[in-house]
Amino acid sequence: MNQRIYPINTEQPWPRNQWWIAATAAEVSRTPMERTILDEPVVLYRTENGDPVAMAGLCPHRGYPMAHAKVVGDALECAYHGFTFGCEGSCTRIPSQEKVPENWKIRTYPVVQRWEWIWIWTGDPALADSAQIPDLWCLGKPGWRSTVGRRATLEARYPLLIDNLFDLSHLNYIHASLVGDQTAIVQTPVEMSQQADGCFRLTRHVHNAPFGGYFAFQFPHKAAEAPAIYTELFSIYYGPCLILSGGPFFVEGGERLGESSFVHGITPETRASTHYWSAITRDFRLDDDAFDAAMLANDAAVRDQDNVALAQIERHAHRLDVQGELSALQDAGAIRVRRLLAAQIDAEAKRVPRA
Ligand code: FES
Ligand SMILES: [Fe+2]
Repeated sequence: MNQRIYPINTEQPWPRNQWWIAATAAEVSRTPMERTILDEPVVLYRTENGDPVAMAGLCPHRGYPMAHAKVVGDALECAYHGFTFGCEGSCTRIPSQEKVPENWKIRTYPVVQRWEWIWIWTGDPALADSAQIPDLWCLGKPGWRSTVGRRATLEARYPLLIDNLFDLSHLNYIHASLVGDQTAIVQTPVEMSQQADGCFRLTRHVHNAPFGGYFAFQFPHKAAEAPAIYTELFSIYYGPCLILSGGPFFVEGGERLGESSFVHGITPETRASTHYWSAITRDFRLDDDAFDAAMLANDAAVRDQDNVALAQIERHAHRLDVQGELSALQDAGAIRVRRLLAAQIDAEAKRVPRA
């Protein structure tokens, strides 16, 4: 069956051999919880020693949701007829009979906790390599204040969010009410490059941006004395699971003020909805709790505006076709990322033939 979704021109809607954020670390506990990931229900919980576990969300006996199961030691006992599954997936008990067939299993997924998130590998378990989980220089590292934000449900397919994050010219429209006049950013051409780690990077060297709006919010003590800002705004594609946007800020022609970034975790929920994870991080005002709370609130408000806008596109996405799009210079980065994503999906489809 053709699983194509606009604007990704591939047979499958998403890569499976991929790490995705499944939950915040705080969400996963000894009480099982259900989350839909790549259109499949998954149940998450922790073993007695705190390790996260992910398994299929439906019991292979008669499909009862495993989120209702009872945790017995490290195992889950289904709440319907009591079949019990160990944390590595093997069926260990059927209450009505003594013998359990040896190969009876529930699907389990490789999961790893990194910083404040639980990551899940949705593909072939033999290929799961946790070294592929993005490791950001600015997240949870010494010298940075990093705060995990919320999970929001974006009522739109995940590639629309990727498109959004690689065309910041929407700042002056969708976000005008929150970020102030960002014409200087919008009118600065984008530069594309591959980072040393292979990630795709879009950079804008923005000169003489007025020291107002979001810049003044971050550096109010400088706003009065410095007329303009220089910033190297970047968006970095770590794969469909994570995009980092942000940059260092300088007084124009002068001192470095600091760097702040927004982490965008992206996990397809269904073909038309997305788990949108957030974190913020910065290397200045490290002890300022009130500023942290204000940044988080501002960030959530900005992302809400994107969520509302992208849901509007999703309403009619079935009518859209890349052939009919008008793509301008500003779209070069987003188009490159679409191609990277499509190439990843195609390569996987060739490697693992699917029915
Ligand atoms: S549905 Fe789970 S034990 Fe029957
Ligand atoms: Fe946005």
